[in-house]
Amino acid sequence: MLYVSLLTSKDIQTFITKVLKEKWDSLKISATLGKSFSEEERRAIMDYIPLVNKSREKFNTDSFLLCDKLALEQSTAYDISQWKAKLWPSFGSVHDLCCGMGGDSFFIPDSLEITGIDMSEERLEMYTHNMQALNKKANVLKADVRNLKLSVPNAIADFFTIDPARRKLESENQRQFENLTPSLQEVLEIAKSYKGGMVKLPPGYPIDDVPFDAEIIYLGSRQDCRECLVLLGNLAQNPGKIRTVILDKEKSFEFVSAFDRATLEKEQILEEGSLQKFISEPCPLFVRSRIFTQFAKEWNAKILSKGIAYLTTEEPISHIGFSSFAVLDSVPLGTSAVKNMLKKHGIGKLTLKKRGVEIIPEEEIKRLKPKGKNEGILFYTRIAGEKTAILTQRIQNRTT
Ligand SMILES: C[S@@+](CC[C@H](N)C(=O)[O-])C[C@H]1O[C@@H](n2cnc3c(N)ncnc32)[C@H](O)[C@@H]1O
Repeated sequence: MLYVSLLTSKDIQTFITKVLKEKWDSLKISATLGKSFSEEERRAIMDYIPLVNKSREKFNTDSFLLCDKLALEQSTAYDISQWKAKLWPSFGSVHDLCCGMGGDSFFIPDSLEITGIDMSEERLEMYTHNMQALNKKANVLKADVRNLKLSVPNAIADFFTIDPARRKLESENQRQFENLTPSLQEVLEIAKSYKGGMVKLPPGYPIDDVPFDAEIIYLGSRQDCRECLVLLGNLAQNPGKIRTVILDKEKSFEFVSAFDRATLEKEQILEEGSLQKFISEPCPLFVRSRIFTQFAKEWNAKILSKGIAYLTTEEPISHIGFSSFAVLDSVPLGTSAVKNMLKKHGIGKLTLKKRGVEIIPEEEIKRLKPKGKNEGILFYTRIAGEKTAILTQRIQNRTT
């Protein structure tokens, strides 16, 4: 029996439910475990307990989903998975390639025939259990997805979704894109066997090698870009374009680029301008997708310095994708000039934002020792290349 499968026993699940409900501490857990469970079961239970509530939250369910720490970390959360559900056609069959514990399959519409494919037996064990626990039908197949066509020639489907592994060990760095397995090149090769597919990539993955007829979607919240999703073949609803999706509590906001990727770069170059009455900061998703440049043109905004995503305008940009600030003052960057500016405006409580200037905000705030009854947001950035400190006040931003 696989390690993770031990957790499917009724006795173990009853024990874990009691532990969580009564909030036992680890001493009480290990003392009680010794009496009723084998050594192997004890280890499995101790590893699993800290994950149960995290997994319930991540997948918005009370069910016992099987996972280990890495499988849970690598999985797709319910809000993203639920949003993606609408990208599927109503009928046909889907391969969830590199299915892991199942995060990408949980919300695939029931009208589609699903097969989870992974080369790890343990992950397939989790997948099988989890799909059943959520009342989802699925076939499972153990295979290396790079050789699927050769090794299992009858394993065919209309569409695929793939979530390549970013690392094999918890200790490995998720941001090292060369660790992606299968690689993007291998995924594009795999894609040739399907009518269409979706590929989950890390948010900062360089998109140069993504085919120009694919649609790229950046997904996340206002605070964070969480996923870069590439839609290939028939699944691309806006071929060649970039879509930005803000998932905000129960609602989502979508923005499709006016230009396709091929023209985006040359059409969307923003002009530099001098500091105006307001500064706007696009949310990380808007920066990643570069859709902020499109809005900048609509709002007649300028950038303060080339390559820095702060916009300046005469009117505040009132849009869910931006935070806007009213400019109070500005000085060339230097400690005593900044201190004098803060004193002049009575600023005692400070938030520091920076782009284009290398400092550690917390340390800089300590150095500035602000005193006063007012609150301010200080930007350390560049205006036409020159390092500048801009003092602002946050204005009410649009959140709906
Ligand atoms: C990021 S995880 C998938 C997470 C999953 N989408 C979820 O939401 O739970 C990547 C998975 O790819 C599998 N994998 C990596 N390379 C593979 C390959 N060549 N063939 C099949 N599976 C592979 C790993 O075993 C791992 O389960």
